[in-house]
Amino acid sequence: KRIALFASGSGSNAEKIATYFAENADVTVSMLLTNNPKAGVIDRSRRGFNSGLHVPVLLFDRTTFYDTDRITEVLQQQRIDLIVLAGFMWLMPAGLVRAFPNRIVNIHPALLPKFGGKGMYGHFVHEAVVAAGETESGITIHFVNEHYDEGQIIFQASCPVLPTDTPDDVAHSVQALEHAHYPRIVADVLGRL
Ligand code: GRF
Repeated sequence: KRIALFASGSGSNAEKIATYFAENADVTVSMLLTNNPKAGVIDRSRRGFNSGLHVPVLLFDRTTFYDTDRITEVLQQQRIDLIVLAGFMWLMPAGLVRAFPNRIVNIHPALLPKFGGKGMYGHFVHEAVVAAGETESGITIHFVNEHYDEGQIIFQASCPVLPTDTPDDVAHSVQALEHAHYPRIVADVLGRL
């Protein structure tokens, strides 16, 4: 099975996924796609994701992504089986979602349907969770459709939010859940394709 990773930021989830499958002969992380030339994930891929991996990186801009079928064509040419969003900040174009029905997964750093939707990403999520006085937060892994953070939920895991927790504390707890679960859930989805 062939995976394409999409990331816009640091890429800690992308790295966890790439290393998880490094020894798995049946699963290949075929390419990394990013919209951010300064994304930390590019450096991680240059370092072989700490696993001696060579993952080609495709950098694209908004025009290419939304006004052409170029990315969809590349993914089809590469015979990608599953698209894995790992901190990718743009909405997937409708054409790409249509070309890969139930073949795109995303991880959101909160317990959807709460604290989701456009603009609810990264630190804003954890700030909103703390501001709302939530006693728990967590992760949601879901299939991707044309709307932010909707699509069938595949997996959720929660962590406590203490009254003394700051958004950074929540971010730390949530990221631990991401790293603990996303690679395995991706493997589960691949196994069901
Ligand atoms: C994670 O919080 C993930 O839930 C969200 O974006 C962040 C990516 O972090 N989608 P990283 O770039 O994988 O470290």
